[in-house]
Amino acid sequence: MYKINEIAPDVYRISIFIPDIQLQFNHFLIKDDEPLLYHAGLKQLFPILHEAVKTLMDPKLLRWIGFSHFEVDECGALNEWLQVAPHAQAVCSEIGAIVNMSDFALRPAYAMKTNEMLQTGKHKYRFIQTPHLPHGWDAGVMFEETNKTLLCSDLFHQNGDVAALTDKDILEPHKAAILFYEAGPLMDYAPYTHKTRKMLDQLAALNPQTLATMHGSSFYGDCAKALTDLDQVMKDVWGEKLATESKLDIVG
Ligand SMILES: [Fe+2]
Ligand SMILES: [Fe+2]
Repeated sequence: MYKINEIAPDVYRISIFIPDIQLQFNHFLIKDDEPLLYHAGLKQLFPILHEAVKTLMDPKLLRWIGFSHFEVDECGALNEWLQVAPHAQAVCSEIGAIVNMSDFALRPAYAMKTNEMLQTGKHKYRFIQTPHLPHGWDAGVMFEETNKTLLCSDLFHQNGDVAALTDKDILEPHKAAILFYEAGPLMDYAPYTHKTRKMLDQLAALNPQTLATMHGSSFYGDCAKALTDLDQVMKDVWGEKLATESKLDIVG
């Protein structure tokens, strides 16, 4: 089943929890003249997500389907949405539009560059390209400037059927989740690169009021600090690992 919570004005978080993998898949519907759904979701979840959207608006009227990067939980059901909503269009990074959407999407995607704006009525979105953050060449985020909601995809991933919205620390549960993944087949969730800090600082400078996360609780409070502190968590888990592996290479 799904759960719907309005986490910021007009921003509806539609959460589907999969108990077998202890993971929430969160989708964000932002109502406006031109409604935007962020995360098309998994193909298999399309029927349930479609039902959920129907309780909020007529899905045929969706105008934009946004996502961060090419991965099934981000955009697997994109074409299902493009079929039910005749005026809908994918919106993603230029890289995503060139490399993936040109072949994958039923209709051409709307490609955005860093700091380009998309106005949907009373809401407007700033696009920031974030290659390989959280992962994927084509990755990017959208910042809804009217109520300062950062649609931040897999950043701050937390496991479990947690609260829709919290002002408590999400970095500890995030670190616990990625360390849990490190011990199994889902290791190396995100790379830590020489650009990670710079990109997180760029997102922090937007000074968001809410972080809309794909997996786990959305966060409100000092989002700039959470984004700045995320660098250390990522560095601890993946940066140090890289350093250790390099040392091993030298020794070997
Ligand atoms: Fe992802
Ligand atoms: Fe994800």
